[in-house]
Amino acid sequence: MSAQKQAKRRTAPQIQARKGGEPIVSLTAYNAALAPLVDPLVDFILVGDSLGMVEHGMDSTLAVGLDLMIAHGRAVVRSTAEALIVVDLPFGAYEASPEDAFRSAARVMAETGCGAVKLEGGAHMAPTISFLVARGIPVMAHVGLTPQAVNALGGFRSQGHDEAAREKILGDAVAVADAGAFSVVIEGVVEPLAEEITRKVGIPTIGIGASSACDGQILVLNDMLGLTERVPKFVKRYGEIGKAVSEAVAVYAGEVRARQFPAQEHTYKARG
Ligand code: KIV
Repeated sequence: MSAQKQAKRRTAPQIQARKGGEPIVSLTAYNAALAPLVDPLVDFILVGDSLGMVEHGMDSTLAVGLDLMIAHGRAVVRSTAEALIVVDLPFGAYEASPEDAFRSAARVMAETGCGAVKLEGGAHMAPTISFLVARGIPVMAHVGLTPQAVNALGGFRSQGHDEAAREKILGDAVAVADAGAFSVVIEGVVEPLAEEITRKVGIPTIGIGASSACDGQILVLNDMLGLTERVPKFVKRYGEIGKAVSEAVAVYAGEVRARQFPAQEHTYKARG
């Protein structure tokens, strides 16, 4: 990528500076086919570990490894020029110690060329976030429904339904902001809590199934495009790409079965 293209990319500090301003637009993307279509229209693209579920057919994000994240991260960085690219640190790559997290994050940054990493977890991850930020790695945090903790949470269900849970999630958001995260994803929490967090923390909150009071929103691209069959209740479908693909493939299959192959002038001519 040319230096000029690189210079146009949004940065983590620019996203951080949008607190309380124009809403931050973001989507996930995972490959070089769709990321360039998303790139000019959003502020940041997350190469989320949701790719394990929506691109690789896994039941959860737990089996996604660092090499897989790096492969997808590289494809997205290579095929885009404007949006900040954030790559998820996968389960098992960062929780054991700040040093482990640094090694994983440094690999992700160096091998993909992304501008930031995201990790899940609240107050208990705050020392790790400070450690990474002090070493030049911009960190997006993620609190509330944290899919890598699906077994501990008892399923993919919304969070913050009683006072104790609300206090805990608010404390998590404050702790990651104090630790130096440049923004925080708030996933699947009750709306008044998302509003309260957005009022109380000094960094942009990026909601997913949370509240329009957040500083921005993220959705999983495959869900909003209609590429996945089952989606969370809060997801609005902005396209029916899955249906369009099935229809196109059905027309193609019908033509091949009817021997309506490409016309003569479009086929390769025999040599000599
Ligand atoms: O992995 C992912 O796509 C995410 C978003 C849902 C925020 O973490």
